[in-house]
Amino acid sequence: MSHLHVTRTLPEDATDAALRADVLHGLTVRPKWLPPKWFYDARGSELFEQITELPEYYPTRAEREILATRSGEIAAASGARTLVELGSGSSEKTRHLLDALAPAAYVPVDVSESALVQAGQALVRERPDLEVHALIADFTAPLDLPATPGPRLVAFLGGTIGNLLPDERAKFLASVRSLLEPGDGLLLGTDLVKDERVLVRAYDDAAGVTAAFNKNVLAVVDRELGADFDPDAFDHVALWDAEREWIEMRLRSRTAQTVKVPALDLAVDFAAGEELRTEVSAKFRRDGVSGELDDAGLELTHWWTDAQDRFALSLSVV
Ligand code: AVJ
Repeated sequence: MSHLHVTRTLPEDATDAALRADVLHGLTVRPKWLPPKWFYDARGSELFEQITELPEYYPTRAEREILATRSGEIAAASGARTLVELGSGSSEKTRHLLDALAPAAYVPVDVSESALVQAGQALVRERPDLEVHALIADFTAPLDLPATPGPRLVAFLGGTIGNLLPDERAKFLASVRSLLEPGDGLLLGTDLVKDERVLVRAYDDAAGVTAAFNKNVLAVVDRELGADFDPDAFDHVALWDAEREWIEMRLRSRTAQTVKVPALDLAVDFAAGEELRTEVSAKFRRDGVSGELDDAGLELTHWWTDAQDRFALSLSVV
């Protein structure tokens, strides 16, 4: 009989303390910036789900195509008995992998308790012999994985690794490497470098859903810290940094204005046209991914892309 275990290692007040620290730091340095993790309150998560269905936003469809057509090969190459998924969310993408691997255990890791419990309950109902060990944790922090049958496949999908800056990626991959033993593997989703117009459109859709998603971080700071950001006083900006090969999302202040953040006893001046960076989304090339994995002690052994070569899944081993 399978069941759902839920373990919380993320302290209850972690989010509040982390948000305060990030806002205090990010709004008092030049240039101003906020980490993209704060997008994902309930409204932000809903807006992101809408983004994944936009015609301009190809990454989700491209990755789903790879998982639907290559999960058999991935399972054969991996042989994992436990699937660990970092940032699992709804686990919607994971079903192809679970079908192909038919693992003994699945360890979804996410900061959202509600997403984990909803997905976990559905999975144990559908898959009677699957042990689900859900971890409420921040996957960028050191993880304490439950003892489950090896070998393990750690999956980090969606291209979310692109949200990390190069030095953060190196630290993250090294921490993932420390979770793995010989025979284990990492399945990594990476969006690929392509035509700048395609990239920018994917982050600045005609319907303005991404603009609303971007501005939502201001609503999070307003609600959680009592700030008086006016989302209409900022413009959504999405640009391609060709040198660093990443998309950057920013919020540009339309006028010179001062925003108050009472919870931090802070008043933040914005000059007219000043931009607050809210996200980077790095795009990759195969040799770059192979190099970054190699630097972390991982060897890239398989590289799968969608038919239009927009997105890649790579398997690497220790
Ligand atoms: C969920 C981080 C992969 O970077 O493409 C979508 C988030 N930002 N549209 C991405 C996002 C703007 C997405 N990731």
